[in-house]
Amino acid sequence: MTRSLIAALLLQAPRYHRQSALDSAGPRAAAVETLWWLMLTVATIVIVLVVATLAHGAFRRRAAAEDPAGQAMDRRLTRWVVTSVAITLLIQVGFLVANYAVGRAIAAPRRDQTALLVDIIGHQWWWEVRYQDSLPSNLVTTANEVHVPVGRPVILRMTSRDVIHSFFAPNLFGKKDLVPGRTTQTWFQADTPGVYRGQCAEFCGHQHAKMAFFIVAEPPPEFARWLDAQRQAAPPPSDTLQQRGQLAFMAGGCALCHAINGTPAGGRVGPDLTHLKSRLTIAAGTLSNTRGNLGGWVVDPQRIKPGTYMPSNSLAPADLRALLAYLESLK
Ligand code: CUA
Repeated sequence: MTRSLIAALLLQAPRYHRQSALDSAGPRAAAVETLWWLMLTVATIVIVLVVATLAHGAFRRRAAAEDPAGQAMDRRLTRWVVTSVAITLLIQVGFLVANYAVGRAIAAPRRDQTALLVDIIGHQWWWEVRYQDSLPSNLVTTANEVHVPVGRPVILRMTSRDVIHSFFAPNLFGKKDLVPGRTTQTWFQADTPGVYRGQCAEFCGHQHAKMAFFIVAEPPPEFARWLDAQRQAAPPPSDTLQQRGQLAFMAGGCALCHAINGTPAGGRVGPDLTHLKSRLTIAAGTLSNTRGNLGGWVVDPQRIKPGTYMPSNSLAPADLRALLAYLESLK
């Protein structure tokens, strides 16, 4: 490993959180995590007591058989069983109350804060992400990455274009299905800045396993800057190589499926590429967003993600270089 790569990893490391429901980063996941720990603690105490009692009974049996006062033993046994059943019932009722309280607490965000509304549309096998605005020119469409401001509730309004998917970021919220022809809703709030990995949690075909996404939680000013940058149209090609790349994009069929704001490309089948280079990964969390990976993906996506709807592309080497130069300019 080169020194620069190590440095880059160390610099990036604090931003990335381990994907785990036991490392909650917001009120919603925290409530569920607390409930989980409560249940684990009580269940552990119960199993230890049960095993201890069982061991105790096993060692006492021989002594008891020689005990002439059998009736006193029977009464004690009945008392034990009744007490144990009562304790079990109490624990179950306690869990029920705790469960209900957590369910109520996470049903909706607190009303004193205005929530950010984000639309998520499931596709085989990627996520379309849209930020609504009363001004149509301020609409933002991106893919596989949801940027949010820390400390503010986010409402996710979701649907699917094909089959049922499920949106799940364990550090922030539980699973919620995306159902074709229906709108479902969930919410979360990230209190710790950073990058959280999430993934599709409902089997949805060939590449279900390669349908990940990232929640990027940023301080509000940074989020505002990101949103503003996403609202801009793509910059025009800045040199002849990029110009050639843009031509290859428009003529090669890419534009039939992908949109680039500020160009005639308006396809809606695949991810919007207006700010492709600003994203962390390509192919829904499958590859890091580097030039080499992008080249491999454009030429032979079927090898990387068999069954994906993106076809392979046989481009002349010079055209591929130009296309990559253009795609890399979409920051
Ligand atoms: Cu989408 Cu599994």
